[in-house]
Amino acid sequence: MEEKKDLNLSLQNLKAKALSDLEKIKDQVALDNWKTVYLNRSSEIMQIFKEIPLANPEERPRIGQNANIVKAELETQFESARERIKQAALTQNLTQDRVDVTLPGRIPERGRLHIASQTLQEIYRILAEMGFQVYRSREVESDEYNFELLNIPAHHPARDLWDTFYTTKESVILRTHTSPGQIHAMHEFAPEPVRIILPGMVYRYEQMDASHEIQFNQVELLAVGENITFGDLRGTLEEFVKRMFGSGVETRLRPSYFPFTEPSAEMDMQCIACQGKGCNVCSGTGWLEILGCGMVHPVVLKNGGYDPQRFSGFAAGLGPERISMLRYGIDDIRNFWANDVRFLQQF
Ligand code: DAH
Repeated sequence: MEEKKDLNLSLQNLKAKALSDLEKIKDQVALDNWKTVYLNRSSEIMQIFKEIPLANPEERPRIGQNANIVKAELETQFESARERIKQAALTQNLTQDRVDVTLPGRIPERGRLHIASQTLQEIYRILAEMGFQVYRSREVESDEYNFELLNIPAHHPARDLWDTFYTTKESVILRTHTSPGQIHAMHEFAPEPVRIILPGMVYRYEQMDASHEIQFNQVELLAVGENITFGDLRGTLEEFVKRMFGSGVETRLRPSYFPFTEPSAEMDMQCIACQGKGCNVCSGTGWLEILGCGMVHPVVLKNGGYDPQRFSGFAAGLGPERISMLRYGIDDIRNFWANDVRFLQQF
């Protein structure tokens, strides 16, 4: 008689192997593979079912019963393995992605105004209290406004004072100072009196170093009216310096030259680093130059539309970056536009 395959033994081996494989499974992919190997239509258990009709008739019921029990067992164990893997994944997620609610929060960085803007705003505030209104004027200028109408004709030696950025368009330049705004304002207001400040960026074709930048701010003052005197100029500027730097600060005027003012002067203030004793900030003189000024030249008044016989005026130009440098001991003007937050954060 042909040797019959012992299906009961096969079932026993199959069950042992399937369950030991299942025990080792740790993830969903391996579990799916297990199911394909042990429970799908071509799996070993299904194969055994097909072979039952070939077994001895008296053994068939027991084998059939046995096969059913093994199949049911594999299915139950599969379900519990699936639950085990699901739970393990859940626990892992919870521990890995745990939010530590006791950690301190991240403090958002506070923004601030640039040091140049802070100084400008303080200058506006002080001069507004003294009756000056802000007048904005363009940064791209014509040669006519930047020079000619300010009494600086072409080939005038004073043009050497301003190294100019020219554009590719004839006579179109970047303003080298805020003074051309004087002419724009006078054209707008004449013959009414004016009392304004003209703040903004100016540009110079400079070799950059610790005290030279190719761009910086200026604040221009202009007052035009009847009976405006050099005394008004002096009183206004002295008052401004006292409000800006403190009431104890001494000032002095020195004669100077600018083509658009006559007479012209420069104002010095007592060195704030050494209170006038003399130090390296003031090169030992005890004084710091802080602005240029003068009485508006009759030619400039006329170019602005005022009759110089009837009207007079004073003007001044100051550098807010220089004021910031003096106040805070900043020793390199290039810091202002280098955008280094370590510098900017200090103010
Ligand atoms: N515009 C001059 C400069 O950039 C500064 C200046 C000097 C302006 C005297 C004035 C003034 O209004 O009266 O160097």
